[in-house]
Amino acid sequence: IQRTFSIIKPDATKRNLTGAITAKLEEAGLRVIASKRIRMTLEQAQTFYGVHKDRPFFGELCEFMTSEPVVVQVLEGENAIAKNREVMGATNPADAAPGTIRAEYALSVGENSVHGSDAPETAAEEIAYFFSGLELVG
Ligand code: GTP
Ligand code: MG
Repeated sequence: IQRTFSIIKPDATKRNLTGAITAKLEEAGLRVIASKRIRMTLEQAQTFYGVHKDRPFFGELCEFMTSEPVVVQVLEGENAIAKNREVMGATNPADAAPGTIRAEYALSVGENSVHGSDAPETAAEEIAYFFSGLELVG
């Protein structure tokens, strides 16, 4: 059993897609063991996306992530990290497989509806950045 960290991004919360996206995650066999709606601060976004700080889209990405509330979640399941990335689809919705969250809902490569951790180490870091151990109810 593995845990991963997910964000339902501003483009999706704004369009009332929190439930539809969560349903897709659950249908894929992922269990939501923690969930909260927050408004990210610019500092939180910059720290969270620190690995991308030298990319040309960094400023736009951080502004986007603070533009509307997001829903941060911890997902649990067999191979949760890979399973989540599979159901999310490719970063650019134009490349995302049919039926994936990004194929169905994302607006662009930037406004792409969801985030998912890419490895066990980043999953652990990202979970700890937004949740205390007491908030994870498996
Ligand atoms: P995440 O789960 O969000 O990390 O997606 P990813 O791993 O598929 O993408 P990556 O880590 O490469 O990029 C992180 C996020 O930066 C993406 O999800 C996009 O929201 C944003 N991003 C990536 N490339 C671009 C780009 O070319 N333009 C803009 N505006 N945003 C981008
Ligand atoms: Mg990534």
